[in-house]
Amino acid sequence: SSDKIIRKGGSSIFQHAVEGWKINSSLVMEIRWFAIHLSSLLKQKNILQFLDAERDVSVVKTSFKPGDVIHYVLDRRRTLNISQDLHSLLPEVSPMKNRRFKTCAVVGNSGILLKSGCGKEIDSHDFVIRCNLAPVVEFAADVGTKSDFITMNPSVVQRAFGGFRNESDREKFVHRLSMLNDSVLWIPAFMVKGGEKHVEWVNALILKNKLKVRTAYPSLRLIHAVRGYWLTNKVHIKRPSTGLLMYTLATRFCDEIHLYGFWPFPKDLRGKPVKYHYYDDLKYRYFSNASPHRMPLEFKTLYVLHNRGALKLTTGKCI
Ligand code: CTP
Repeated sequence: SSDKIIRKGGSSIFQHAVEGWKINSSLVMEIRWFAIHLSSLLKQKNILQFLDAERDVSVVKTSFKPGDVIHYVLDRRRTLNISQDLHSLLPEVSPMKNRRFKTCAVVGNSGILLKSGCGKEIDSHDFVIRCNLAPVVEFAADVGTKSDFITMNPSVVQRAFGGFRNESDREKFVHRLSMLNDSVLWIPAFMVKGGEKHVEWVNALILKNKLKVRTAYPSLRLIHAVRGYWLTNKVHIKRPSTGLLMYTLATRFCDEIHLYGFWPFPKDLRGKPVKYHYYDDLKYRYFSNASPHRMPLEFKTLYVLHNRGALKLTTGKCI
């Protein structure tokens, strides 16, 4: 398994790979140019599976009218109505339009971050991307607090905010969002049916409380484009995880990408247990069929890119 492949090198080799890491700027450019050229090539051939980060990161107001009916991306038989609320929260222009950064952090949610002391380093990056509205304040020393872009699967409402059943759950949520100020809150609302009500409740709370957060809703083609992107690199990833989606998007607007909290394994290199999330007791699911993701395969791919200097994976302590 990938787990074994990672372990085979032993901790010393892995540590060395981290210490001796240097950015390979020409490879970063190559990856970006490859994607751009591939995009234009596919465009010419009229194939829609190309990635346009600025465009695919969010649909915009002019994409839909209130009342439009769309098909879920991964559940084509089911449909969703674009409500007035949803429409009013669509951005006028892409939240990533003309935005470029020297260094970015993509923070995954693995328990490997606990006791890492990486908070300061993470916050020192120009642009920090986080996943699934993970809590930060209580873990600031290890994960930092800066959040320029944060994702939120609709299931988070159930998982972390009690399905908004009580006023206190709703207050906790509103408080969490108010801390984000005008950061981007990225909600994959069109992937699968199921979270529809949750998305509506979230939208209503944002509007009612006049929260400043800048909502974004990924395009209908994003997941296909990202899958296509990795397939052309001969990596077969059917359902890219949020973390991989974020890295893939970041390749288009960040010169140097640093990944933290990516460790989809139940043990560290010394054999000590690692929690699935740094902040809750959710268990590892990707060993069963319950998870659609193949995070260990994704990790292996990212590890190869780390060794080539295209990105930097931090899985140990930050000094
Ligand atoms: N991750 C990881 N190792 C873990 C947990 C998470 O590498 N032990 C990465 C994955 O790329 C994941 C991201 O961190 O997508 C965010 O974690 P999480 O919120 O747990 O994502 P999931 O809900 O498990 O999966 P997704 O949102 O991708 O459906």
